[in-house]
Amino acid sequence: MTDAAPPTSARRDATPYPLEGTPPEREAWILAASAFARAQLDGMEAAPAVGTLGAEANRRAAAISRPLGEAPLAGGLPAALDLLAQALPLSLNAPGPGYLAYIPGGGLPLAGVADLIAGACNRYTGMSTAAPGFARLEDDVLRWLAREFGYGERSRGILTSGGSIANLAAICTARHHAFGEDGDLRPAIAYTSSQAHHSVAKALRLAGIPSANLRTVDVDAGLRLRLDALAATIRSDRAAGLRPFLVVGAAGTTNTGAVDPLHSIADLCAEEEIWFHVDGAYGGAFVLSPSARQRLEGIHRADSITFDPHKGLFLPYGTGCLLVKEGHHLARAHGGDAHYLQDFTLLERDEEPPSPCDYGPELSRSFRGLRLWLPLMVHGVAAFREALDEKIELARIFDAGLRRRIADGAALEIPTPTALSIVTFRLRRREGEPLEAWNARNAALIAGINARERVYLSSTMLPVDDGLAHTSRVCVLSFRTHRSRIEAALADLDAALREL
Ligand SMILES: Cc1ncc(COP(=O)(O)O)c(C=O)c1O
Repeated sequence: MTDAAPPTSARRDATPYPLEGTPPEREAWILAASAFARAQLDGMEAAPAVGTLGAEANRRAAAISRPLGEAPLAGGLPAALDLLAQALPLSLNAPGPGYLAYIPGGGLPLAGVADLIAGACNRYTGMSTAAPGFARLEDDVLRWLAREFGYGERSRGILTSGGSIANLAAICTARHHAFGEDGDLRPAIAYTSSQAHHSVAKALRLAGIPSANLRTVDVDAGLRLRLDALAATIRSDRAAGLRPFLVVGAAGTTNTGAVDPLHSIADLCAEEEIWFHVDGAYGGAFVLSPSARQRLEGIHRADSITFDPHKGLFLPYGTGCLLVKEGHHLARAHGGDAHYLQDFTLLERDEEPPSPCDYGPELSRSFRGLRLWLPLMVHGVAAFREALDEKIELARIFDAGLRRRIADGAALEIPTPTALSIVTFRLRRREGEPLEAWNARNAALIAGINARERVYLSSTMLPVDDGLAHTSRVCVLSFRTHRSRIEAALADLDAALREL
């Protein structure tokens, strides 16, 4: 008879647990990860503005893919990092200085350090009772932000994974405020402009508001929501027996950076007793900019504000924020309880910071606050104000460069006023040119600019008399973008124009 193998627990007590690693192994992991991150950060300036995408990227991605085996990957962490190094160039270089597309973010190195610390410590921050120290630091950030937006002491906020979830939480809060737990949502009507981000329509649908109940209000020549059209639509809905409950205004649209008339919408909403939510996912950050702050005048009058630190505070993706002026509305819409959480209530909870789970949809969550707290504390708030001011200035420089070219005879136009840090431009339409042909020329123009790989721009479709016109846009928001990159963008525009 042979001895039975010792049970796993006995074997494991004799040798290190592989999931923990020994202290030298852990040190090696951190050093290897740090070397990987440093190489990326050091190469950012010189890297092409766009990596490999499309069919070639998908082919190479398939070659990197490995089955997840029962045994460790041969070569361990270095081999895994090697696969990551192969995957990385198959991407837009979104954190790079030349990324002027969509809405840039950046990804502050210190926020990456914060993620490493937060992940390694892995404290529970869903309920502040479980980690009041960390919860206090996160609340310090939220309170500071609320003050910057002009909110008072009764406001509350949550850090979300992004702007879409912040909009969803705002819309659930507005719905709960108007209709309670079990109101009839069939007559519930929401209003936004035709330029609103699509996450607003999605959030309404997820919140149980029928899609047909979203009114898309007309915009003016600057693509800002038209107050007269909003007021008329609300009037006609009320006359039809419907229940207007929410207006979503924009503090910086994704397309063009347009800021809706916030004061006037706030007046109308107050009169009509309608919740006013401002989607400032992109533009909200400019409340921190001394030179642009006044362009968001009236934002403090909103009942709630979405703002994305992974855009305007240059954090890595996965950091959104919702602020609600009267915080108890947020708590009423999101509160919840369960017997298995009862032990938390046995502790002394006076003066405890607010618990994120009472103000948002998540229970377990990462310690998101550290991503903001660490860079804000170490760099100081003034560094962020200065960087945001620089983005406004760079957009102005690009706008001025376009105007100079137009004055010198370039067949370009700037269809919308430069707003916050977004500039739009396109080729002028030729006499009698069909829309499709004009759009095709504009698609070729942006392809010509991006092909030079110093900057990466994205396009959108903006309304013209006979349809939608392909329009290029420059959105300056990365902390890494400086004047030389904007001058490169203008030079590459000149070269692309010559090639057309
Ligand atoms: C104005 C606006 N609102 C909402 C969102 C959605 O934010 P997220 O991508 O963080 O979910 C965006 C994204 O670009 C945006 O520009």
